[in-house]
Amino acid sequence: MDTDDIRRLPKAELHLHIEGSLEPELMFALAKRNGIALPFPTVEAVRAAYEFSKLQDFLDIYYQGAGVLVSEEDFHDLAMAYFRRAHADGVVHAEIFFDPQTHTERGVPMGTVVGGLASAQRAAEAEFGLSSKLILCLLRHLDEDAGIQTLKQAEPFLDRIVAVGLDSSELGHPPSKFAQAYQRAGEMGLKKVAHAGEEGPPEYVWEALDILKVDRIDHGNRALEDPKLVERLRAEGMTLTVCPLSNLKLCVVDAMTAHPLKRMLDLGLKATVNSDDPAYFGGYVGSNFDAVSEGVGLTDAQIATLVRNSFTGSFLSEAEVAARISSLDQALRA
Ligand code: HPA
Ligand code: ZN
Repeated sequence: MDTDDIRRLPKAELHLHIEGSLEPELMFALAKRNGIALPFPTVEAVRAAYEFSKLQDFLDIYYQGAGVLVSEEDFHDLAMAYFRRAHADGVVHAEIFFDPQTHTERGVPMGTVVGGLASAQRAAEAEFGLSSKLILCLLRHLDEDAGIQTLKQAEPFLDRIVAVGLDSSELGHPPSKFAQAYQRAGEMGLKKVAHAGEEGPPEYVWEALDILKVDRIDHGNRALEDPKLVERLRAEGMTLTVCPLSNLKLCVVDAMTAHPLKRMLDLGLKATVNSDDPAYFGGYVGSNFDAVSEGVGLTDAQIATLVRNSFTGSFLSEAEVAARISSLDQALRA
């Protein structure tokens, strides 16, 4: 399949941090709108700073960038820019992470964040027919009580939020740190996902499964180091939200030719392709498919499987999944 074929396939994106879709041009525009000084003189200087050797290098600059987001309109504009790019790549459904603590810690209310994202969600549905759901991520470098407080602040907005997630600095912050918070999220009726096995060891993936009782694993690359864990993930049909360009930029893989995606599929794992933080890692979901497909030589059947997994691994209803798969099958025949 070539680039255009891949973009024509209707697909879901399941691993996208909305703050990670903040392109430098919009960062500058919002900084100006809000009278915020940026530590970079130009858009080019911002892009030049995007050289990372590990997750934390990226996180430091990502949290700094998010500081330009202040008003409901800012969050609306941010999400709308993402939806436009996603739509161009054939995304018909997106399950979007947001990091409320990054904003509430600066005095931006939860309602401002969710309000702006929600108005963009409605606009994207109307303009592009693109459906979406929000996943509230807890920052794992903060303590569990802060996470539980954040869940409480989200209570008025639960009609928009489908799941809880766990992101930020993985090493030293195992899933077990958030056992009570995830228990609470479950009682609130939320689905559960967690970043695990991006930089952290297989043990963190076991904890996400056994202690947090997640419905999906975000990344999961390092699960491949543990054959028993691979068997567990395979037997359960656990969805892995894999992010090839992110893995390359954060040095989780040494080269795209060494990316484990094909191996995951060969092992019977239910992998998907996603963009993670596209403004920082060099491309949206279409570019992620292009890069990994070229790197490891995916077959057309494997690309179709990855796209099918994006729907069956989503939090859409069974009827909605069936409808999306049927339009995917139609596109594959065309
Ligand atoms: N890993 C962990 N935390 C994150 C990421 C990621 O790839 N992107 C945004 N927050
Ligand atoms: Zn991520």
